[in-house]
Amino acid sequence: MYKILRKKELVPNIYQMDIEAKRVAKSALPGQFVIVKVDERGERVPLTICDYDREEGSVSIVFQTLGASTKKLAEKEAGEEIRDFVGPLGNPSEVVTEEAEKLKEHRIVFIAGGVGTAPVYPQVKMLKEKGIKVDVIIGTKSKHTLILEKEFREVAENLYICTDDGSYGYHGLVTEKLKELLDDGEKNYDLCVAIGPMIMMKFVSRLTKEYQLKTIVSLNPIMVDGTGMCGACRVTVGDEVKFACVDGPEFDGHLIQFDEAMRRQSMYKSQEGKKTIEKEQ
Ligand code: FES
Repeated sequence: MYKILRKKELVPNIYQMDIEAKRVAKSALPGQFVIVKVDERGERVPLTICDYDREEGSVSIVFQTLGASTKKLAEKEAGEEIRDFVGPLGNPSEVVTEEAEKLKEHRIVFIAGGVGTAPVYPQVKMLKEKGIKVDVIIGTKSKHTLILEKEFREVAENLYICTDDGSYGYHGLVTEKLKELLDDGEKNYDLCVAIGPMIMMKFVSRLTKEYQLKTIVSLNPIMVDGTGMCGACRVTVGDEVKFACVDGPEFDGHLIQFDEAMRRQSMYKSQEGKKTIEKEQ
């Protein structure tokens, strides 16, 4: 059993929970994920690790309540326990495992969408600790759905917030803001990391391909059981077939067949609704 140390509703329906999980916290790295099972009969939900505290032995997860399993998780309070918390799984993010000296040569821009903003945070935080400055573009529906702004202000060199309704920051999509920055010419980015809904990652990758800007995306949203068994996260990368939960979750965004992956995503629905859509990160 794993104890919930803290629980916070970041914005309506998006929660952050810090879970006491010493073994996971000891080896977790940005980009990896855990599988959470609320109780004996609960479904397995893969969630990206959003932060960790090795001293305290805790791991943070951020999730949106869109299906029965995440709703059940959100009903738990600090002090209560969850049945399973397995991880860290998947490969750590390429940018944080790269040597700092090599990374210093790069100008990196992160694109974060919706609840996918959460897993971007530990990557940017770790890069800042290594002395690497990165820009971040966050896309969200409105000011009221924006998460972790204060945290990002502390670690990003430049933070651009885009809202669909124009209620805060730039009025428009992340791709429009990114295009503006790329056309500006001053930024000279040579690496882009995009984490968010599949549709966002598809259009970011399409844009950056035009600009020949190397792009890494995280295919967490298409995972269902996170074990390599269900086949939901099968994806064509170049001319190879990969499984996001085993081979990823990060891949070269220019090589992914997004439409095929999204079609597969919509096929995997649980009896409780669109389970795969629960995991927009
Ligand atoms: Fe089921 Fe990867 S999530 S095989």
